[in-house]
Amino acid sequence: MDKLIVQGGRRLKGTVSVSGSKNAALPIIVAATILAEQPSTLRNIPDLMDLQTLCHVLEGLGARLQFESGTLSIEPIDQKTYQAPYDLVRKMRASIYVLGPLITKLGRAKVSFPGGCAIGPRPVDLHLKGLKALGATIEIEGGYILAKADQLIGTEIELKGTNGSSVGATANVMMAAVLAKGITTIRDAACEPEIVDLANFLNKMGAQVSGGGTATVTIHGVEELHGTNYAVIPDRIEAGTFMIAGAVTNGDIFINNAIPTHMEALAEKLCQIGVQLDWQEKGVHITTPNPLVPADVGTDVYPGFPTDMQAQIMGLMALTPGMSVITESIFPDRFMHVSELNRMGAKILIDGDSAVIHGVNSLSGAPVMASDLRAGAVLILAGMAAKGETVISRVYHIDRGYEKIEKKLTNIGADIVRQK
Ligand code: EPZ
Repeated sequence: MDKLIVQGGRRLKGTVSVSGSKNAALPIIVAATILAEQPSTLRNIPDLMDLQTLCHVLEGLGARLQFESGTLSIEPIDQKTYQAPYDLVRKMRASIYVLGPLITKLGRAKVSFPGGCAIGPRPVDLHLKGLKALGATIEIEGGYILAKADQLIGTEIELKGTNGSSVGATANVMMAAVLAKGITTIRDAACEPEIVDLANFLNKMGAQVSGGGTATVTIHGVEELHGTNYAVIPDRIEAGTFMIAGAVTNGDIFINNAIPTHMEALAEKLCQIGVQLDWQEKGVHITTPNPLVPADVGTDVYPGFPTDMQAQIMGLMALTPGMSVITESIFPDRFMHVSELNRMGAKILIDGDSAVIHGVNSLSGAPVMASDLRAGAVLILAGMAAKGETVISRVYHIDRGYEKIEKKLTNIGADIVRQK
C-alpha cells in the first residue's frame, strides 16, 4: 500500500488547477450510462479511484466506458443486466446511484445494500422512500435491494431527513423521475452545485427538470433521453482544500478554476479567520498577510459550510492560537481525523458532535493514518505545515477523491513523495 512522505515547513507559491468534481461526475456518469439511448462524451472527468470503481459497476451492467485524458466515452448499458453486486458496491457507496435509473429504465434493479463507512452511519431510507413514492416496490433480501416497477408515475415527494436534505436521495429520485410518467415534484431537495450540474446534464439529454439548486425540483417525465456531450463543474472541495493548503503554509497561491458562487460559506469563514482571498476571473489568489484568529464553524447543507471541508478547516484551526469550536451536524461522527491530528501535537477534544480546538503554534511530523478521504486530506495539510516528516499511510482513501494531489502540491513548492 502506498504512503505519502511529507516534509513540513515549505511555503507554497504558484498556481494550482482544480480538476472536475468527483461528486458531480458520479451521478452524471450513471445517468449517461443507464438512461441515455445513445453514446455520450463527458469532459473534465478527474482520474480517481471512485470513478474507476463506478465504471466497473457500470461495465458489470453491460456498458462500455473508455477514459482518456479527462474524457470519458460512454456506450450505454445493454438493457439486460440489472444487478450491482456487493463486491463492487461495498467499495463505493455512490454505487446506490444506479438504483433509480435502473428501475425507471429497465423496470427492475438488484443493488447491494450499501453498508456504513468511516464517517458514520449512511442510511438510504430517503432514496427508498422517494422511489417507493414513484411506485416502485422495494424489498430487502440477502443484503440486496430488490426493486420493481412497470412504469414509475410522477408524484409529490418530500425528501427531508433528520439532518436536512440529502444529496444522494435527491440525485437518485431525479434520475428515476426523468423517465416517469407525469410530473414529479421533489420538496426539500438538496441544493448543492452537484445537483444543479446533474439537472443541467439531464436537461441536455432531453429531460425536463426545473428548479435544480432550489428546495423544490420539478420534473416533467419524457419518453426517452439521448446521448450528449458535457463538461462537469470543477471540484469545489478540492478547491477549498487548496485554499487551506495556502493558508496553513503561509503561502501565496493562485487556484485556477475555483468558482466563487460554489464556495461562499467557506470563503466567508476564511476571511473571518484572516486569510486573504482575492477573487479574479479565473480563480482565487490566497495569502495570509495577517495573524489568523480563531473562529467557530458549523457544517450544514448547501449553502452552509460543507461537511466535506470540516476536516481541512480543523487543520487550519489547530494552528490558530485561541479556541475554536467546530460542530458537525451532517455526519455527527465524522471526527476520525482528530486523533491523528493530536498525534501531531494538536490539542483537540471531541464533545458530542463538536470538536473543541485549542490552537497551537506548531505541529510536529509523525506517522499517521488516513481513515477516509477528507480525513486523509487534512493529514497532508497538517504535514505540510508541521515541523519535520509526516508519513501518511492508507493513502488509497485520498486517491479516491483527489487527482494527483502530491504532484499538484509539489508543483507549487510542497515536498511530498509517494512511496509505493
Ligand atoms: C454526498 O453524500 C457526498 N457524496 C458526500 O461527500 C457529502 O459528504 C454528503 O453528500 C453531504 O454533503 C457524494 O456526492 C458521492 P447525503 P450523500 O445523503 O449523498 C442523511 C466526500 O467526502 N441521510 O446528502 O451520501 C445522512 O445520514 C463525500 O466526497 C439520511 O438520513 O450524503 C446525512 O446525515 C463523503 N437518509 C445527511 O442525510 C438517507 O437516505 C446528508 O447525507 C440519505 C441521507
